[in-house]
Amino acid sequence: MNILVTGGAGYIGTHTMVKLLENNHTVVCVDDLSNSKYIAVERVEKITGKKVKFYQNDIRDREALRKVFSENKIDAVINFAGFKAVGESCAKPIEYYDNNIYGMLVLLEVMREFGVKNIVFSSSATVYGNPHKVPITEDFPLSTSNPYGSTKLFIEYILKDLYASDKSFNIAILRYFNPIGAHPSGLIGEDPNGIPNNLCPYITKVCVGKLPHVNVFGNDYPTHDGTGVRDYIHVEDLAEGHVLAVNKLADNPGLIIVNLGTGTGYSVLDMIKAFSKALGKEVPYKIGAHRPGDIPTCYADPTYAENLLGFKAKKSLEDMCKDALNWQLKNPDGYVE
Ligand code: NAD
Ligand code: UD1
Repeated sequence: MNILVTGGAGYIGTHTMVKLLENNHTVVCVDDLSNSKYIAVERVEKITGKKVKFYQNDIRDREALRKVFSENKIDAVINFAGFKAVGESCAKPIEYYDNNIYGMLVLLEVMREFGVKNIVFSSSATVYGNPHKVPITEDFPLSTSNPYGSTKLFIEYILKDLYASDKSFNIAILRYFNPIGAHPSGLIGEDPNGIPNNLCPYITKVCVGKLPHVNVFGNDYPTHDGTGVRDYIHVEDLAEGHVLAVNKLADNPGLIIVNLGTGTGYSVLDMIKAFSKALGKEVPYKIGAHRPGDIPTCYADPTYAENLLGFKAKKSLEDMCKDALNWQLKNPDGYVE
């Protein structure tokens, strides 16, 4: 299939483009490079030995998007384009609603105009809010506590309404848990701006001496060691999930909503220990206060993904830490153009 990957130059997009190309799909990428660099796309080409047709466009630019659809026969779209920082979304809600929701609306309108009816959307486990129990199944109640999460939830509603109005659409809403790690080559990986907000990129910066220690956000949660528990999934496994989802769309499944996680929860201290092992020395940390909005525990029930898509995360925590560290060591300043 010829797949349009919007936001393909970013962290999850690059890894997904690699898997798509390795599975003999062709890829057209639209990215405005607002949170990425073109060199990441070149690295995808280097890993796969295949070409990516690239357009530097904002998906909100309707005319530019129409040009992409008229120049390429697109079979399916995977939409990664959006802003993703929770803290920033609280400071800039209008920008987040505009980019994430309006961007999706323009994309859907242009898809409909060109008769392209297959789409995969990057949702997040954040739409489960603070779950009443774990593991989390797809039928759990939904809620959000910040503008970023609200954009994900509203887009899910938009996609459900669209499907109700037009059953010829095939829509895969993928709710990611916590993607970490990098391609084992060390050529592509996560490249956050400034000081990372998320745990794993923060730990790898400590590992390479760019930050002094990890701040552990609380050790009095009701978990096995008091620190927050999450479902970390290797970004390569997540990327594989997108290939399975896009292939599934070809069977006309209608609207599907699927968790992409491993089903295993690790605490912050478990993660620090695993990175210490990968590094070969102790990663320093200090226990601090809770981060506002954090929940104690979040991990997926991955059964539906396995039954519906044949998806099963294969990579271990050891692989995740090793690959994340390898990327950070080979690219201490991220992508440098
Ligand atoms: P990322 O920021 O690395 O990638 C997003 C890409 O989209 C970037 O390359 C950016 O330049 C591009 N982009 C942003 N707005 C655009 C626009 N209007 N037009 C064109 N391109 C645009 O983020 P990521 O970690 O790869 O996440 C991809 C998607 O998955 C996002 O929608 C994110 O919300 C979602 N998600 C990510 C995580 C995570 O932990 N990384 C978890 C759950 C969901
Ligand atoms: C965060 C976002 C969530 C988003 C997800 C993926 C918040 C409140 N939630 O989730 O909406 O979908 O990222 O982008 O920002 N931790 C530390 N020290 C750190 C960083 C994190 O102890 O420096 C802890 C956190 O308290 C948490 C765990 O590590 O228990 C994981 O944190 P993080 O990587 O930010 O992911 P989430 O909290 O799951």
